[in-house]
Amino acid sequence: MEHRTLGSSELNVSSFGLGTMTFGAEADEATSHAILNRFAEAGGTFIDTADVYSHGASEEIIGSWLGTRGGTEELTIATKARFPMSDDPADAGASRQYLERAVDASLGRLGVDVIDLYQIHAWDPATPLAETLATLTDLVAAGKIRHAGVSNFTAWQLQRAVDMARYVDWTPIVSLQPKYSLLSRDIELELLPMCLEENVGVIPWSPLGGGWLTGKYTPDERPTGSTRLGENPARGIEAYDLRNTDRTWAILEVVRAVAGARDVSMSQVALNWVRARPGVCSVLLGARTVDQLDDNLAALSWELTENERSALSEVSAPGIPIYPHGFMETYAGMTVWEDLMTRVEPPAIGR
Ligand SMILES: NC(=O)c1ccc[n+]([C@@H]2O[C@H](COP(=O)([O-])OP(=O)(O)OC[C@H]3O[C@@H](n4cnc5c(N)ncnc54)[C@H](OP(=O)(O)O)[C@@H]3O)[C@@H](O)[C@H]2O)c1
Repeated sequence: MEHRTLGSSELNVSSFGLGTMTFGAEADEATSHAILNRFAEAGGTFIDTADVYSHGASEEIIGSWLGTRGGTEELTIATKARFPMSDDPADAGASRQYLERAVDASLGRLGVDVIDLYQIHAWDPATPLAETLATLTDLVAAGKIRHAGVSNFTAWQLQRAVDMARYVDWTPIVSLQPKYSLLSRDIELELLPMCLEENVGVIPWSPLGGGWLTGKYTPDERPTGSTRLGENPARGIEAYDLRNTDRTWAILEVVRAVAGARDVSMSQVALNWVRARPGVCSVLLGARTVDQLDDNLAALSWELTENERSALSEVSAPGIPIYPHGFMETYAGMTVWEDLMTRVEPPAIGR
């Protein structure tokens, strides 16, 4: 598998990372271990989890698997903290008091001495950013984490964190984990250009829109059976009613046509589009079975042509806000997001 350097860190990440949100939920321990084995056999080295996934069970399952293979050699392990781990308001957030406890709990569940990438799962409005950054710096100094990243930040929040860390000489924010797929391209307007400019590595989550881009849902039928949305059609941001739009079906039609002409799955088409976007270091694969993972890993054996890529990009192009993006387009002849995204080199290729 191809490997890339994660932002300004020295961490090497496989271009597909393994997302483990299904572990301890849709995938039991045995299935999760089989998924981990298959991923490692394919040359995957980057594994992403969070304390909140199945309330610690995802980290524990990864920990028991690491135990069976005798450690983390060759692997890059990422986890996150910030969302509530109990009803106690003190069991959440990005404060020093909480992060110091949360990191020890994650180290214990994973059974490791150090976490390669420790991510703040979302902005915490209740904690001064300086407190969070100083804590992350102290956790690096204590040898508990190697690098710090964030997830689900807006561009101004991320830029502020990057700048503050730079000027105070705190540990840098090396990565952003955002939602990014053919169905969700909002990050291209502000976050992605910012990450390219600042060399912050991008780790997309939900690259299949939670399953939508596999083509398993249609305009005529609500989801049924054993799928994420079959089990809960109202599930959060992937909810069937929210995504049941002309735009979604138009995008799926192009994905289906590209897949049909190549005789590959729609998932592979969607994954290869994200994998080739500027700034993307590692695309997180979510799977509930080894078969799903195998299908997704097969995307590594081919690449989209320029024509296929353009057709997919065109049908899924994000709407441009009237101001300032639209203004700049009309009066300065500048496609703000495209210009910014194409003028920076893609991330360096590692080993
Ligand atoms: N930072 C954050 O806030 C955040 C949020 C969400 C996720 N994440 C991370 O990103 C990872 C991936 O997210 P995601 O699970 O939402 O990714 P996704 O790739 O958009 O969706 C994965 C789901 O799609 C279905 N699927 C996957 N491959 C398939 C295939 N080949 N054929 C048919 N169905 C297939 C499976 O669900 P069904 O079989 O149930 O349909 C699977 O669980 C997570 O594991 C987690 O590590 C982070």
